[in-house]
Amino acid sequence: MQHFLSVNDVSADGIYAILDTAEALRKKPESLTGQYFAANLFFEPSTRTRMSFHVAERKLGIDPLELEPDLASIVKGESPYDTARTYEAIGADIMVVRHANDHWYDELLGKVSVPLINAGSGKDEHPTQSMLDLLTIYQEFGRFNDLTIVIAGDIKHSRVARSNAHALKKLGATVYFAAPPGLGDASLAVSHLSIDEACEMCDVLMLLRVQHERHTAAVYDTSSYLSGYGLTTERERSMKEHAIIMHPAPVNRGVEMDTRLVECSRSRIFKQMENGVYVRMAIMAKLLNWRGVNHEHFTDKRQ
Ligand code: CP
Repeated sequence: MQHFLSVNDVSADGIYAILDTAEALRKKPESLTGQYFAANLFFEPSTRTRMSFHVAERKLGIDPLELEPDLASIVKGESPYDTARTYEAIGADIMVVRHANDHWYDELLGKVSVPLINAGSGKDEHPTQSMLDLLTIYQEFGRFNDLTIVIAGDIKHSRVARSNAHALKKLGATVYFAAPPGLGDASLAVSHLSIDEACEMCDVLMLLRVQHERHTAAVYDTSSYLSGYGLTTERERSMKEHAIIMHPAPVNRGVEMDTRLVECSRSRIFKQMENGVYVRMAIMAKLLNWRGVNHEHFTDKRQ
């Protein structure tokens, strides 16, 4: 594996290797030997992903080079391609990129010689978010087989939904979507449930943010969204005793979930954020050929 761009580039064994390495690094943090620089190129806003990559890099002994779009030559019209090539020329050894384009990496593959990590590509994929979600589920249940996992909300605009649907199916979970009319996605061969059915059936309820910034017009009235399609306290009470609630965050409190449930005993939302640091350490360690990683587990489709 030269880059980490899609969950489809990683085998089931490769996913388990990332989860195992993340747990090992959590218990016993280790630094890479040698000097490395990481270019963190976030062309879209981010708090969790950007900061957890930053912390992961510092924990591994990698020096982060943060792009600040408002202060960079992007404001003079420099393209993402030229920005990335510039960071490589200056000395970046690895690049973490978030961009609104679904396939931002196409123009860089074969042009840059350093590993690329997809930190969110348009509506298409968010593979490192998927790895931290998988780690959170694995910590809770110790398996993916026989689990019913419902991804609920604005599926249509969600790169998290796409990455997780592919990865969870690969690992043997049963995946459903629960989306309001017009916000589903029929292209992924995933059955749709109502939010009421979803709450009663699931072991894991993965809620999604309503991505207002990707809607061309106001699709839903936020005040009625919660009662029609979100996680109310009444629906939470219908969930199985052991079922957990996840959300990639940021949360629109009071829209996709009642604000009182964000930090309830079922919620793993802040645990997900914590796990993000360790899976990102594991992925970067793998891409930089850290000796602690079992490289045989990873497939290598994109060279
Ligand atoms: N979950 C997630 O990607 O959050 P950020 O947009 O804050 O990085």
